Amino acid sequence: MASSTPYLVVLLCLTSLLQASLTAANPSFELPESEVRSRFSKWMTKYSKHYSCHEEEEKRFGIFKQNTNSIGAFASQTTVNGGVGGFGPQTITTVRVGMNRFGDLNPSEVVEQFTGFNNTGFRTPKPSPLPYHSWKPCCVDWRSSGAVTGIKFQGSCLSCWAFAAVAAIEGMNKIRTGELVSLSEQQLVDCDTGSSGCSGGRSDTALGLAATRGGITSEAKYPYSGIQGTCNVDKLLFDNQASVKGFKAVPPNDEHQLALAVARQPVTVYIDASAWEFQFYTGGIYRGPCSSDASRVNHAVTIVGYCEGPGEDNKYWIAKNSWSNDWGDQGYIYLAKDVPWKTGTCGLATSPFYPTA
Ligand SMILES: *[C@@H]1O[C@H](CO)[C@@H](O)[C@H](O)[C@H]1NC(C)=O
Repeated sequence: MASSTPYLVVLLCLTSLLQASLTAANPSFELPESEVRSRFSKWMTKYSKHYSCHEEEEKRFGIFKQNTNSIGAFASQTTVNGGVGGFGPQTITTVRVGMNRFGDLNPSEVVEQFTGFNNTGFRTPKPSPLPYHSWKPCCVDWRSSGAVTGIKFQGSCLSCWAFAAVAAIEGMNKIRTGELVSLSEQQLVDCDTGSSGCSGGRSDTALGLAATRGGITSEAKYPYSGIQGTCNVDKLLFDNQASVKGFKAVPPNDEHQLALAVARQPVTVYIDASAWEFQFYTGGIYRGPCSSDASRVNHAVTIVGYCEGPGEDNKYWIAKNSWSNDWGDQGYIYLAKDVPWKTGTCGLATSPFYPTA
């Protein structure tokens, strides 16, 4: 007992030092104004930003400054916390954030301009459970089987739902036919009457439309404009480049059922994407902040794989987003898997869907 006391004292001192630097790191992180100005002007050039007037530019600069300093504070905090850490399928640990195209926006503006799941009046259709004890691998990555197209960008159109649905159909089509064809989100934006084009919609109604029409045309034949247009009926009726017969709902709030489905093909999910950490995410396993409540999900992405360890803190879903590969980890986000609450990280298990052929 007596011999362990000095160690305890040292440990306590170390702990309080660590805590002191942790709390100190956050509020005191502030780059000089001139440095932020210079970064802002480079950032504006990089993303071809133009503001209508000086007031608008100053307002956006203010938000950019706040975001830049918060990113700096976040980085110094995670460094104190044990290092930014290496990245690889085996060693994803600490979440990282960094500047991207959303630099002059607040989280609520990102949701208003770049998501698009219409949650109003949403009801999950009857679920189709898979045999509970069927075998599944501990890691699946449909990207490595060539079943995932490159990262796309929805632009300022609330069409996440179309991108999520298309990525799921692209995956199924590749698995079934051996051919990876980039398919048309614009067709869904223009033609899905169950959704509202660039005002928001649902991946399940999009999959339903593709099923009713027997499939969907290609990106090449019906390219993305990011503006809702008139439905091109010829292409909708007669020019399917991938066939779809129906779609199924994964039993909600069951990450095991979701994994069984993802082991077979990519699956669409709805998530809450309204956190600042989500806006600037650049890597690591994301555990929040976000809401995991079904009524709060606002975005649609496609789960294209998962990995269950090794290690309890190393379980994640691989989600393909439609915010270009400038966002996230090359366009992807790794969301914590098998969390203690049923709705999953950011609500990802609340209503997953996949197409059938
Ligand atoms: C969302 O869906 C509801 C129910 O289908 C619909 O009444 C509403 O117009 C939709 N909202 C938007 C913004 O499209």
